[in-house]
Amino acid sequence: MDCMVLQGGRRLTGEVSISGAKNAALPILASILLGKGTSTLTSVPAVRDVLTMSKVLTHLGASVEARGDRYTITLPGVASCQAPYELVKTMRASVLALGPLLARWGEAIVALPGGCAIGARPINLHLAALEKMGAEIRIEHGNVHACVRGRLKSARINFDIPTVTGTENVMMAASLAEGTTVLENAASEPEVSDLASFLIKRGARISGAGTDVITIDGVPELRGADHEIVPDRVETGTYLIAGAITGGEVRVVRCRPDHCDALLAKLQEAGVALKVEKEAIQVRAGGPLRAVDVKTLPYPGFPTDMQAQMMALMALARGSSVITETVFESRFLHVLELQRMGADIRIEGNHSVVTGVERLSGAPVMASDLRASACLILAGLAAEGETRVSRVYHLDRGYERLDAKLAGLGAQVRREAERV
Ligand code: EPZ
Repeated sequence: MDCMVLQGGRRLTGEVSISGAKNAALPILASILLGKGTSTLTSVPAVRDVLTMSKVLTHLGASVEARGDRYTITLPGVASCQAPYELVKTMRASVLALGPLLARWGEAIVALPGGCAIGARPINLHLAALEKMGAEIRIEHGNVHACVRGRLKSARINFDIPTVTGTENVMMAASLAEGTTVLENAASEPEVSDLASFLIKRGARISGAGTDVITIDGVPELRGADHEIVPDRVETGTYLIAGAITGGEVRVVRCRPDHCDALLAKLQEAGVALKVEKEAIQVRAGGPLRAVDVKTLPYPGFPTDMQAQMMALMALARGSSVITETVFESRFLHVLELQRMGADIRIEGNHSVVTGVERLSGAPVMASDLRASACLILAGLAAEGETRVSRVYHLDRGYERLDAKLAGLGAQVRREAERV
């Protein structure tokens, strides 16, 4: 396992280009299973979860040709309807194969994803919706077995919670179902919209993506199409905070500021100076950081995937901020590691009370999940001395070439094999 070693205290300056969004690429790749034909995807991020999903597709019968960020994928038919456990256990997003396999091929066997560091993360809402569309679903030996005779039927689905992958799974399944399916209290994240735009290019009839009511008129089949993956709004926010937390001046390019409204508003409230253009954002520290309260919510609210990174920034702000996590039940594992670096944080239920300190001190810390790793990297960029972030395989799941991009901004960062 590798660790990331940072020498803190250097102002980051320069320009960084944003990669395609992991959380758009994953459902879009899974949607390949919805039909035969060839699709070409560009701006596909070079992150481990994408490689895992590519392996799942290959296992199921697709041919995947990757040249840099360009993926050409052909599905002649499926060799199997079972997503392999050894892959699924490493990436819960494999559950996104469920809807497409079931809708197009009539059967799907996908390992029931376990919990993870940030919560139990059940998929009951995915399964209830597919059952309502006529699927027979049983759980045995840790797998979800789903099957349907003929086509799935349309239904009116009201999600108890606006689940992102649940919305994506059911939207994909409904694209081939008989009749018109309506999803209410659907997730409206930009990654859901990006999946919808890819499906529409392939002949799907979807309206309302990006709102909380999505209507899908099922069609008999989908063809291949070309598509460019939307830029990653979480990567964007991570580099904005990297610029702000080091008191630097960073220009983030190839991004979608219109997908980052909640974060940008909070950064400006905290005193960060931002210059927002159509596809770029310039960030520089506009004087001392001010503590602001943050509450994570489904899109367009403040993204839970930016909660840990914002906490790193608030650890150095003047005053106290209350950070409330409403999406996942245990997404504060990074707090214990930030405290090792001198942060003053108190957890009270799903709130973290962060009182800013003058400075953080570098320390050996341990990553627990993808976004907690990013938080510790950000803290290490600002801390005095050396920070060693271990278990950075978490980072590699969702950040393309993070060390190279940070080094390009002047950070003193290197990867090295973890000392046992
Ligand atoms: C997606 O996860 C993202 N992953 C997550 O990003 C992101 O944090 C999350 O949405 C919230 O925005 C991908 O898109 C691959 P949910 P997902 O279903 O779909 C509960 C990252 O760092 N729930 O919207 O799994 C669930 O427990 C990752 O890139 C049920 O109870 O999240 C959670 O509390 C982390 N039953 C809440 O809903 C269900 O059937 C939101 O979960 C489904 C969800």
